Amino acid sequence: MRTAVYPGSFDPITNGHLDVILRAAHMFDRLVVAVLNNSSKNPVFTAQDRVELIRQSVPKVPGCEIVIDAFDGLLANYADMVGATTIVKGLRAMSDFEYEFQMALANRQINNKLDTIFLTTSVEYMYLSSSLVREIGRHGGDISGFVPDAIRQQVIEKLYQK
Ligand code: PNS
Repeated sequence: MRTAVYPGSFDPITNGHLDVILRAAHMFDRLVVAVLNNSSKNPVFTAQDRVELIRQSVPKVPGCEIVIDAFDGLLANYADMVGATTIVKGLRAMSDFEYEFQMALANRQINNKLDTIFLTTSVEYMYLSSSLVREIGRHGGDISGFVPDAIRQQVIEKLYQK
């Protein structure tokens, strides 16, 4: 069984993340969407909320078991624990590449069974990021089209607390 991990902060999940999840789901038998429980980044949504928002956003994909989980510590160790030999990352622009390349090399150094594959963003999501969603939502802007419809209202309510 081919298992991959798609890690991230997902604070919150965007349509760009969802696009990568659905495309990766067609490549693997099992895809673990792994939310980093990163208190150092001071996320707006708790890890539990982020997991729940992803659960509500991701449809069933025939042929792939999609698991949503949270993790602490090193991604390379977590991948090993869930039986994954591939990390999936999305690339929006060349500016993402240098950091991602460094991470891929470091993860392989820690766990030499681990490869990273990069899915280039779909063009319509090139500009999109969780931080952009947080910024627009915080000011009461319209985030439809940026996050999955199923979670839009919850995200607005959390971000736009007057
Ligand atoms: O969505 P993000 O914030 O870009 O995701 C970053 C993430 C979670 C993939 C990265 O921070 C990560 O893997 N953190 C876990 C700690 C780790 O393994 N760091 C890299 C090896 S030094």
